[in-house]
Amino acid sequence: TDPALIRNFCIIAHIDHGKSTLADRMLQLTGVVEDRRMREQYLDRMDIERERGITIKSQAVRLPFTALDDVTYALNLIDTPGHVDFTYEVSRSLAACEGAILLVDAAQGIEAQTLANLYMALDHDLAILPVLNKIDLPAAQPEKYAEELAGIIGCDPSDVLKVSAKTGDGIEELLNELVQQVPPPEGDPDGPARAMIFDSVYDTYRGVVTYVRVVDGWLGSRERIEMMSSKATHETLEVGIISPEPTKVPGLGVGEVGYIITGVKDVRHSKVGDTITSATGGAAEMLPGYQEPQPMVFSGLYPIDGSDYPVLRDALEKLQLNDAALVFEPETSAALGFGFRCGFLGLLHMEITRARLEREYDLNLISTAPNVIYDVFMDDGERYTVTNPSEFPEGKIGEIHEPIVKGTLLSPAEFVGPIMELCQARRGSLQGMDYLSEDRVEMRYVLPLAEIVFDFFDQLKSRTKGYASLDYEPSGEQVSDLVKVDILLQGEKVDAFSAIVHRDKAHAYGVEMTKKLRELIPRQQFEVPVQAAIGSRVIARENIRAIRKDVLSKCYGGDISRKRKLLERQKEGKKKAKMVGRVEVPQEAFISALSTE
Ligand code: GTP
Repeated sequence: TDPALIRNFCIIAHIDHGKSTLADRMLQLTGVVEDRRMREQYLDRMDIERERGITIKSQAVRLPFTALDDVTYALNLIDTPGHVDFTYEVSRSLAACEGAILLVDAAQGIEAQTLANLYMALDHDLAILPVLNKIDLPAAQPEKYAEELAGIIGCDPSDVLKVSAKTGDGIEELLNELVQQVPPPEGDPDGPARAMIFDSVYDTYRGVVTYVRVVDGWLGSRERIEMMSSKATHETLEVGIISPEPTKVPGLGVGEVGYIITGVKDVRHSKVGDTITSATGGAAEMLPGYQEPQPMVFSGLYPIDGSDYPVLRDALEKLQLNDAALVFEPETSAALGFGFRCGFLGLLHMEITRARLEREYDLNLISTAPNVIYDVFMDDGERYTVTNPSEFPEGKIGEIHEPIVKGTLLSPAEFVGPIMELCQARRGSLQGMDYLSEDRVEMRYVLPLAEIVFDFFDQLKSRTKGYASLDYEPSGEQVSDLVKVDILLQGEKVDAFSAIVHRDKAHAYGVEMTKKLRELIPRQQFEVPVQAAIGSRVIARENIRAIRKDVLSKCYGGDISRKRKLLERQKEGKKKAKMVGRVEVPQEAFISALSTE
């Protein structure tokens, strides 16, 4: 295809603002999907996406569109993942485009995540088309939000397009505007091939399917190619485009978007952001912006039934085929048995992974509280990278560095107070604040990542009736006064409950955990102290009094079968109990104590 006739674009939108519906209308309008075969949300393929209403993996589809000038253009719609954890993948999708549709619900206005992605699109110099969706809704306020959008991107409110993805109203005008405003791709057709990987998906039948945007040269099928980050070479077994099903083509030229299959079986051999070139006579320089996937949040995952351990290992290995950011290594815990220490991009990535393990592999799992990576510098010059509280070094500590993020919060003005309180309590520092309109505020904070991974979203939602939204990106490290708090049962450390917290919060953490455990652990034949300690210094203590727990006292009267049942259940429960020193702890107690309420 002549690059002059290509338009590469993506849709930036908040969850539920109608990205999938708009994409569906575009497929329909350009005749790529016949009306009668149109199934809702053609582009959202994974079940879990459908259920949770989020788009995890980006894809690309080619739409042939005949514009007002009677010329047929190839519009490539590149889908972007919609959640904060996938910032890097979003940035690669944007880098594959020349333009972006900024899609905003006309009844809701712009959200923090959309704003963050818009800033990223502007950094990539993309042409931005502001579009208000859902104008068919009675609650729509297109004039109000057109003003808001115009204010943010610096255009005239009349330049904001108004559409309904549901009824199809305004979609054709939108595509015509797109052809007009998004510049065609530029590149060197005669230079050595350079193509950027913006997505990489494992397919059971075909191996890894790699989505690419060709920048220079030509990427043909049956060619030897090189992944520039690792210098590994592969053969392109198939090159194709998606429209809307995969279709083979002889190759892809400048500005074209499509997929390649090389037979590799693991997405780590075909990494998002990497540059593909020819194995012989290839390009000298990679395209800019490549990053190794970097796990930010760690948690221990344990099967509730210890015999599931091999199943969990196999399942993690399988998930890793399709997830270059997931890392794991075996770990043992005195309290929880055999499991894995897993690293994730963020909280949602963690949640999705756990949900998939439980659903697709029928596993029952328990996870330890998530923590971030700490750099610990000792007085003697040693340096430790700590991803697990149990690795926290003993001895004289000089400095501890923790990861911080830049957060963008958007909220109705009335909740500014509660948000400031929350961010303050989470050690945040306010960087700036702007009114987007009379009643909507953008607040920018620097916050420790550790404070966000622990129920920040829930707190934010409950303090703002669900109206505030947050987006964040990694922003380096800061020195902080952090300590490790251990929880001890009769003097024995319970590894799963050790936590690295700010010194000011250590006491509160200790009190909370000791109280919780006192309530959850049944009385033993002897008194059991539950303590929280920093090193050898005890900072909180509770006692579980010594009384033999007499389950039979619960059944007054003489129903013998009921008594027998209770005794059996008690036996059953004991089988699942773990010993911490001399203290017998039912597994249930660990599970409850680890779940955040
Ligand atoms: P994710 O895939 O979760 O990111 O959401 P999305 O942005 O793709 O939103 P989706 O297309 O799933 O739309 C969200 C909801 O809004 C669905 O119930 C749609 O039917 C509805 N919707 C989308 N566009 C319109 C519109 O123009 N008018 C009305 N009334 N509803 C719409």
